Amino acid sequence: MANFTLTAKTLFGLEQVLANELTGIGATNIEILNRAVQYTGDQAILYKSNLLLRTALRILKPIATFDVHSEEQLYRLVREIDWSKFLTLRQTFAINGTAKSDRFTHSKYVALKTKDAIVDQFRDRYGSRPSIDTNDPDLWIDVHISDRTCTISLNSSGHTLAKRGYGISRTLAPINEALAAGIILMTGWDRKMALTDPMCGSGTFAIEAVLIAGNIPPGRFRHYNFEKWNDFDRKLWKDVRLEAKAKIVDVEAKIYAKDIEASNLEIAKANAERAKVDQYITFEKKDFLQSAAQEENGLLIMNPPYGERLEQEEIVDFYREIGTRMKHFYEGYEAWIISSNMQALKQVGLRTSKKTLLFNGPLECKLHKYEMYKGSRKGEG
Ligand SMILES: C[S@@+](CC[C@H](N)C(=O)[O-])C[C@H]1O[C@@H](n2cnc3c(N)ncnc32)[C@H](O)[C@@H]1O
Repeated sequence: MANFTLTAKTLFGLEQVLANELTGIGATNIEILNRAVQYTGDQAILYKSNLLLRTALRILKPIATFDVHSEEQLYRLVREIDWSKFLTLRQTFAINGTAKSDRFTHSKYVALKTKDAIVDQFRDRYGSRPSIDTNDPDLWIDVHISDRTCTISLNSSGHTLAKRGYGISRTLAPINEALAAGIILMTGWDRKMALTDPMCGSGTFAIEAVLIAGNIPPGRFRHYNFEKWNDFDRKLWKDVRLEAKAKIVDVEAKIYAKDIEASNLEIAKANAERAKVDQYITFEKKDFLQSAAQEENGLLIMNPPYGERLEQEEIVDFYREIGTRMKHFYEGYEAWIISSNMQALKQVGLRTSKKTLLFNGPLECKLHKYEMYKGSRKGEG
């Protein structure tokens, strides 16, 4: 099978985790970019990237790269691409434009110029044109201008891969699935140690943890745009899926999802059921500030309220109490806390053994790691 270049888009801070995942699926020439990783692979790698990568948002297949200095030139060069190779008159398409350039400041305008060029090419050749569908098009085209370089790609994924396709419902301030998976992978979890999200909200960490522990493809319930491409290889896709299914393993770790709000736990349970992973998760209504370790050692991963709705003083006290609880009741555990409230995070009061900058949507966040040693090595200060 022929090899080609691919780009996997991700969230800020997850590039290295994504590069590791790519090595795991057999990609080569892996190069870390900003919020993206570039690599080489064949059609099977393209399909595996979509099905298996937990920290990718979309997989782009570049079809043209050129220097561009003006909107007119962009129009002309896009029109030179033979679009009939990718699109028929009866199909629909959508364009996503991004521009980081002093000459191209409006992403929407870049997308519009690209659309015009494609439409005009079809009209010119066939007297008719394919329609736009921004919701569920047959072909997603991505135009990216960085300084003077324009890259036109096909988005093989379609909607963000963070949407795993099991129709999740959300509680307040949910964490993006790719970010949750990325954090779990970043902890270096051995997939055997007990993992607890004591403030689970809609259950994202627990669900992603089961998928990781069981080596379950995150995207097993969804569809991808490449399934509509005219080079779609149905047999290869089936083989890739069967191979992935054969690699699913038993979930050995105990995985707990807890929350103080009964209504949130109900949502988390319903989500886990839809994702077909509920049998691996123990749900419990519990106030973390009244809780204690259930195992000799384990992993706590939590995303406490950031405090948008609480008084700053209250939230700062709350984080201080989280720290005290971890120190006295979770000896032998390792904890990872993600929050956008830096003031509050400081109040946890335990020694931070690692800090990572991440973004949950538009919110700048810090992921802090704490180790609650047993006995004299108790982390303090
Ligand atoms: C930011 S949300 C977590 C979102 C979650 N990561 C998700 O993906 O949906 C914070 C959660 O902490 C819960 N919570 C607040 N105080 C708590 C406490 N003392 N003990 C346990 N859970 C608590 C809230 O009910 C809320 O569901």
